Amino acid sequence: MDTEIIVHVDGAARRLTVDTRTTLLDALRERLGVTSPKKGCDHGQCGACTVLSDGRRVLSCLTLAVTQDGARVTTAEGLAAESTAPDGGLHPVQQAFIDCDAFQCGYCTPGQVVSAVGMLQEFARGWPSAVTGGAGEPGLDGSEIAERMSGNLCRCAAYVNIVPAIQQAAAASERAAGTEVAG
Ligand code: FES
Ligand code: FES
Repeated sequence: MDTEIIVHVDGAARRLTVDTRTTLLDALRERLGVTSPKKGCDHGQCGACTVLSDGRRVLSCLTLAVTQDGARVTTAEGLAAESTAPDGGLHPVQQAFIDCDAFQCGYCTPGQVVSAVGMLQEFARGWPSAVTGGAGEPGLDGSEIAERMSGNLCRCAAYVNIVPAIQQAAAASERAAGTEVAG
């Protein structure tokens, strides 16, 4: 059965007719030409297909496109538009991945970057993870980041640089927030 939907992808309204069994990943890649979400496993195991749907992380290979009618979907290609950098450049997470050399082949990187953006927003809202201790504010240490990013696999094992990249991006966001408050 075919259904017409409108999905707002990286800020642009995209109308398309999809079979109700079509995944969001296939709709993005095969129908709309948005290829930054990668098909690593197509089974919800690797995180390479991660996108934000209305600001929350989802695995696009396990998400039916019809459920995204009217949703705001952000891929790695659209993150720069949400950048808080004064010059409108890369998103702080993208810049941190470059600065920290947090990739090798780069196949997992769009999913890692999008997932990190979603994860930092979850952390800022105070959502606990499985390793968050009981008392006080959790810090964004290596354990927290590893747990919160555990859905994103990297076959090149670039984790040793991904973790500091996320910490750098978090620090940059905190500085930017402080500047906004001070300003
Ligand atoms: Fe979606 Fe691997 S392609 S989790
Ligand atoms: Fe190669 Fe992660 S950089 S899979």
